[in-house]
Amino acid sequence: MRLYVNVWRQRNASDPGRFVRYRVEDLNPDMSFLEMLDVLNERLTALGKDPIAFDHDCREGICGTCGMVINGVAHGPRRATTTCQLHLRHFSDGDEITVEPWRAKAFPVIKDLVVDRSAFDRIMQAGGFVSVRTGSAPEANTIPVPKPDAEQAMDAAACIGCGACVASCPNASASLFVAAKIAHLGLLPQGQPERWQRARQMVAQMDVEGFGACSNHNECEAVCPKEIRVDTIARMNRDLMRAALLPTGSREASRALCRARESTG
Ligand code: SF4
Ligand code: FES
Repeated sequence: MRLYVNVWRQRNASDPGRFVRYRVEDLNPDMSFLEMLDVLNERLTALGKDPIAFDHDCREGICGTCGMVINGVAHGPRRATTTCQLHLRHFSDGDEITVEPWRAKAFPVIKDLVVDRSAFDRIMQAGGFVSVRTGSAPEANTIPVPKPDAEQAMDAAACIGCGACVASCPNASASLFVAAKIAHLGLLPQGQPERWQRARQMVAQMDVEGFGACSNHNECEAVCPKEIRVDTIARMNRDLMRAALLPTGSREASRALCRARESTG
């Protein structure tokens, strides 16, 4: 295969950046998109040119580092597919392709296709954890969790923190990411003690980082490689509303906690 790839090249955060067009030949349709960039980089390096900087790690669709916008779509044209799992057979010989970094104020470009996603880490530090002592692995039946709750929690836990939801949202909202992280803990018994504090703090940190608000475009769900659903955001907003009405540590908060336990398992 031969492809014409227009890649965003930007030396650093202060460089205005520009597209550079490359012709890449002798490609195998079974190569992944990242392997195509590897081939291009080997040729650039052999010519003494600066290779294209891009993020990658597992190349198995599970780590979330390989984010880039391909032909205007976060992670490219295949549904529920990360860039590392996108193969050239889904393109045609001679195609013209554009490749850009995630574009969001909260994800500043470091170089070329690499952006700084540490804002997600700070949101996790604000509440995406369980600090109660849960002891060693308990006997499986001592804390019964209803199957629908367990399944919903596992679905939310599939979020790999890639940031495609932010990159595709016209408001650069991180709501789908934050909602997934709140849901996967808030649906389980171990996540109950900090449930309200978690919703408050993670959403507050999302605002501090400069992500926008959700206005129901649903673009995030369309590009999410792990198919996290937008109703997760509705669940986050319900938790946030309850949290806003309850002073932390109050008796009312404890009662609401018990009610939430009853309703969510
Ligand atoms: S919700 Fe989906 S698109 Fe957003 S960070 Fe998680 S896996 Fe990526
Ligand atoms: S490199 Fe890990 S998800 Fe793509």
